[in-house]
Amino acid sequence: MSEKVFIFDTTLRDGEQSPGASMNIHEKFRLAQQLVKLKVDVIEAGFPTASAGDFECVKNIADNIRGAQIAALARCNVKDIDNAWAALKNGENPRIHTFLATSEIHMKHKLRLSREQVLELAVASVRHAAKYTGNIEFSAEDASRSDLDFVCQVFRAVIDAGATTLNFPDTTGYALPDEFGAKIRYLIENIPNIDKAVISVHCHNDLGLAVANSLAAISNGARQVECTVNGLGERAGNTALEEVVMTLRTRPGQVADVHTDIVTEHIYPTSRLVSTITGMVVQPNKAIVGANAFLHESGIHQDGVLKERSTYEIINPKDVGISTSNIVLGKHSGRHAIRDKIKELGYGELGEEELNRVFARFKAMADLKKEMFEEDLEAIVMDEVLRVPDSFKLLHLTAMSGSRSLPTAAVRLLVHGREKETASLGIGPIDATFRAIAQLTGTSSKLLYFSVSSITGGTDAQGEVMVRIEDNGKVVVGQGADPDIITAAAKAYLTGLNRLEYLKER
Ligand code: KIV
Ligand code: ZN
Repeated sequence: MSEKVFIFDTTLRDGEQSPGASMNIHEKFRLAQQLVKLKVDVIEAGFPTASAGDFECVKNIADNIRGAQIAALARCNVKDIDNAWAALKNGENPRIHTFLATSEIHMKHKLRLSREQVLELAVASVRHAAKYTGNIEFSAEDASRSDLDFVCQVFRAVIDAGATTLNFPDTTGYALPDEFGAKIRYLIENIPNIDKAVISVHCHNDLGLAVANSLAAISNGARQVECTVNGLGERAGNTALEEVVMTLRTRPGQVADVHTDIVTEHIYPTSRLVSTITGMVVQPNKAIVGANAFLHESGIHQDGVLKERSTYEIINPKDVGISTSNIVLGKHSGRHAIRDKIKELGYGELGEEELNRVFARFKAMADLKKEMFEEDLEAIVMDEVLRVPDSFKLLHLTAMSGSRSLPTAAVRLLVHGREKETASLGIGPIDATFRAIAQLTGTSSKLLYFSVSSITGGTDAQGEVMVRIEDNGKVVVGQGADPDIITAAAKAYLTGLNRLEYLKER
């Protein structure tokens, strides 16, 4: 019987540390629901001591999500561990994940602690966590650059103190696969009580080797992989969940005789959800979930795939939830069909009120467009369901531009419940629209990033706009979709401003 590799998803914690990828409480909850569908084993929901908001997000997930273990991060101190437990305690098999650096560089410059002090603190912290739960993970931060015998010493001691998962992170993404695999083997061969714990790895992608290092670790006995959807995370990101899972599935028995419980058909919807919520667009040539991952451009390849798919495809797109006949519904589709499609796309059962709003928007758009694609429906769901309360709402927009006219925009908004309108000039119609919105909302935020792309093909496609804006050190993303790109841009800007407002109010 093949052994199980546990999938520990840290999209909500390490993934969110990606600059600009912050998520609000509703978005985190929605993503946690999707991760349960994907059947990850552990959801790391956040770092409760980082902020009151983080605490609330972890608590909301622990209180309400069932079907996965919920973990929370804590430094090795009493306050962090108590806080983590306070947020987690109503969860299903909650896990306290405590960490302390073990490398000379970190101990000397960051912690200013000796080896003896680190060992003592790690043991004391795990003992403290053990008062609350038997499900304790200990991470030796920067383990891959630590003295291996010291890591063995710490791991042995924390197992005796109650740790059940030992995580060996490549915090700086410095390791090479053979070397990393050999370190995992060394741990197994040199820690006498290692059979009482699961060895985990947590790799960063600074050299593009996070997935390769994680696989090398599995080959050598690791049985938990920490990863994020789309490889989201600090700097160059973390191990991409979809790449590890699909490698193990596509090459069975080659890495090791192992399997995961991931329902792979939910991979693509989860990837879309993460990229829409965070505004972190997936690069088109990204393995497994990139827009081009299953496209065949060259004539020879197309011919081969038409004759026999396996000539150039090692994965069936359906296995990761990419449907190949993508035209989904038309203007005659009924409410039931829309509801079923939304469920199939991984967005779960919408409430009656939400479904009514989505259905009305879908019908209106289907009247304008010839073909409606899954992405069109998704964009509407994202817009209607996954958003914070509207402090600012677009009521009306007229923008004018042309090769000879001065770009102008007239905008009417609901601003905290009151109608306001103004007109503005700009370098182009989007600039004019943004100036008018800025004037009406009184925002002092800075636009850091703006991108516009087409959701599907054709001139009648919806435009999708992503913005990243910053105010007082807080960075948020906003997204908006509409067949009219100026309206899409206005919606994206307003979503971002609503998020900033939401953060301010909290
Ligand atoms: O990269 C890292 O070392 C971490 C730990 C907290 C596990 O994220
Ligand atoms: Zn990390």
